[in-house]
Amino acid sequence: MSVAKPLPHDAAALHVTGAARYVDDIPTPKGTLHIAFALSDVAHGRLNGLDLTAARAAQGVHGVWSGDDISPMPDCSPSVHDEPLLCTGEVQFLGMPLCMIVADSHLNARRAAALVRADITPAQAILSIEDAMAAKSWFDGGPRVYARGDPDPALKAAPHRLTGAIEMGAQEHFYLEGQAALALPQEGGDMVVHSSTQHPTEVQHKVAHALGVPMHAVRVEVRRMGGGFGGKESQANALAIACAIAAARTGRPCKMRYDRDDDFMVTGKRHDARVAYEVGFDDDGRLLGVRFTHFVRCGWAQDLSLPVADRAMLHADNAYFLPAVEITSYRLRTHTQSATAFRGFGGPQGMLGIERVIEHVAHHLARDPLAVRRVNFYDEAGGASPPGPPRDISEPKRNTTHYGQEVSDFCLGGLVADLEDRAGYGARREAVDAWNAREPILKRGLGLTPVKFGISFTLTHLNQAGALVHVYQDGSVHLNHGGTEMGQGLFQKVAQVAAHRFGVGLEAIKITATDTGKVPNTSATAASSGSDLNGMAVQVACDKIKAAIVDWLGDPQARFVDGMVIAKGEARPFAEVVNAAYQARVPLSATGFYKTPDIAWDRDKGQGRPFYYFAYGAALTEVVVDTLTGENRILRTDIVHDVGASLNPALDVGQIEGGFVQGAGWLTMEELVWDDAGRLRTHAPSTYKIPAASDRPAEFNVHLWDGANREDTVYRSKAVGEPPFMLGMSALMALSDAVAACGDRFPALDAPATPERLLAAIEAVRA
Ligand code: MTE
Ligand code: MOS
Repeated sequence: MSVAKPLPHDAAALHVTGAARYVDDIPTPKGTLHIAFALSDVAHGRLNGLDLTAARAAQGVHGVWSGDDISPMPDCSPSVHDEPLLCTGEVQFLGMPLCMIVADSHLNARRAAALVRADITPAQAILSIEDAMAAKSWFDGGPRVYARGDPDPALKAAPHRLTGAIEMGAQEHFYLEGQAALALPQEGGDMVVHSSTQHPTEVQHKVAHALGVPMHAVRVEVRRMGGGFGGKESQANALAIACAIAAARTGRPCKMRYDRDDDFMVTGKRHDARVAYEVGFDDDGRLLGVRFTHFVRCGWAQDLSLPVADRAMLHADNAYFLPAVEITSYRLRTHTQSATAFRGFGGPQGMLGIERVIEHVAHHLARDPLAVRRVNFYDEAGGASPPGPPRDISEPKRNTTHYGQEVSDFCLGGLVADLEDRAGYGARREAVDAWNAREPILKRGLGLTPVKFGISFTLTHLNQAGALVHVYQDGSVHLNHGGTEMGQGLFQKVAQVAAHRFGVGLEAIKITATDTGKVPNTSATAASSGSDLNGMAVQVACDKIKAAIVDWLGDPQARFVDGMVIAKGEARPFAEVVNAAYQARVPLSATGFYKTPDIAWDRDKGQGRPFYYFAYGAALTEVVVDTLTGENRILRTDIVHDVGASLNPALDVGQIEGGFVQGAGWLTMEELVWDDAGRLRTHAPSTYKIPAASDRPAEFNVHLWDGANREDTVYRSKAVGEPPFMLGMSALMALSDAVAACGDRFPALDAPATPERLLAAIEAVRA
């Protein structure tokens, strides 16, 4: 039984010994050239010209190319062809690549880049939400509105009504391995590209386009990334394209990696956002009508902003039934880095809005926020009666989302009860209240937040995957699929599926680099669907090979277990049977293909079933805040999270722990600051603080919710990559709870809740 085993990451030993090979570690052929960009130091303006004399004369420089030297200018966009590789006239953000230097070393390329002088006539830059709204600077042709009913009558008739807003900051991916690419020119104009990308097919497509060759002339290989987190879904394109065009021009291998500062200055981040709300509710805190306005800062190019902002709208309900709701979403075009995918893909921004609403309602009614959460939960699957006052049976079921999808697998009622139990919520609530009544300086807070996250790409056609499996005559298995490995453990999970199908040990399975020459037309490894899609495609391929062997054995009951094949009452080692099958000319190689069933989505109407199923979880976090300095610590976090029937509990717990810490980092300490000129002032670890090992909760308990996926996914597992990120909301709510203990007013705490913001909020609730 390989599936469900808590095996370590297949490359764990390589990671910790430094032997794991990333793009920058691939030995480069003699004569390899290195590329660096010179960047704009103006946010918006007209590029009149570049003085390249000093750069061209600098040591080791092979070529300096600007927009004037490359025609047509390749496009890097994953969506609408609005991202020229280099500036072609209009400077669109501070950090925009103006020209590329090709030199004999990384250092020489960077040194020469620093010598480039740009003549730019500055223009008014659109930077803030206010700037963009005033200028009607938005993507998608204007605001997008999704609604159920009209919230106005509900708002008017509601016994209570509140308005408010929450601001949430951006987030840098801070993958430990920065963006990198290496292009190796081949005979006849072909190109091989090694790229640190979550989306090899996209890199292949963009490089082919830039070179003016068919996709078959470009092969992209990805062994692994040192983290992607969504930041390598589209942002890897520019480096791969730059390397490929330089390699095609010079006939030499070309390599590029961003220095960390450049990575910060050039690449997109999580969308920062403001969610404004108006809510009407009854005495129990039951939400009757909600109106949300999302202001999402997208940066200079469209990139993936529309699906990100859409997903925020689709998660505006989180775990709660909203009987009447309208969501208006502005996708704002600003002269800043082009915001991109980041774990959760807009979901976190949408969910944080409704979680803030719940907290605001609870504060207004002086009720425990958990009680307010519970009365608003969707109906529990299986018909468990919802908590709260008994309901009129003529009342419609509360199990359909505002976009018309039935929530048929809701389990948060039971899951949260389990969490309360495990974490001792009731007693801890009392203990925290008692502490706060006693202690004047250090205040404690508790936050318990649920997560319901939709699994599938909302762009329906992306929900497909392919695999290629070879069984060699010695019984060893070579595995390829369309997914990429970024630390999440996808390869190990998929190898477990293959080992399980053939009934062999994991040592029989070779996990190899993702390669567009082996599995074509892949989707990005994203939307947490890597193992759902590729696991199934591999299963299909393995089963084809098995079927051929079984057919040849002539025993439909043949079984593959414990390294043996049992047929016609006889057990023989897998390798022996495979060898005999080879001799008998049985095909031992197959492709597999999978597409997610039963999904359909009308983006314009905002109606359908965009998600195959939902992943659920909940976290309880306790914090302590020093009210004199704003310093704070997470004392304890308890999580119960639903991964269906886990393919690998060790990897899943790792994803949950890492996701929580990254989510809590987003909302509490990671702060991106742009100045009035549009310059990102936090562009290195010295000024941008991500959680360190010491910032993880001092006590950290993760429990996997026991229950198979109701849908027919690979071994009934559930996706785990992104959902736990949003458990980090409990840290912000816990801080808000601690602040609330300082006064009477509602702490409208914005994120990230840095010590400065905490101090300001403490002052505000005391006022
Ligand atoms: N875990 C690690 N260690 N590194 C990563 O880059 N990316 C996250 C998540 N977990 C990431 C990670 C994101 S954004 C996604 S979409 C999923 O992993 C992608 O992988 P999966 O679909 O195989 O879960
Ligand atoms: Mo993840 S943001 O879908 O790469």
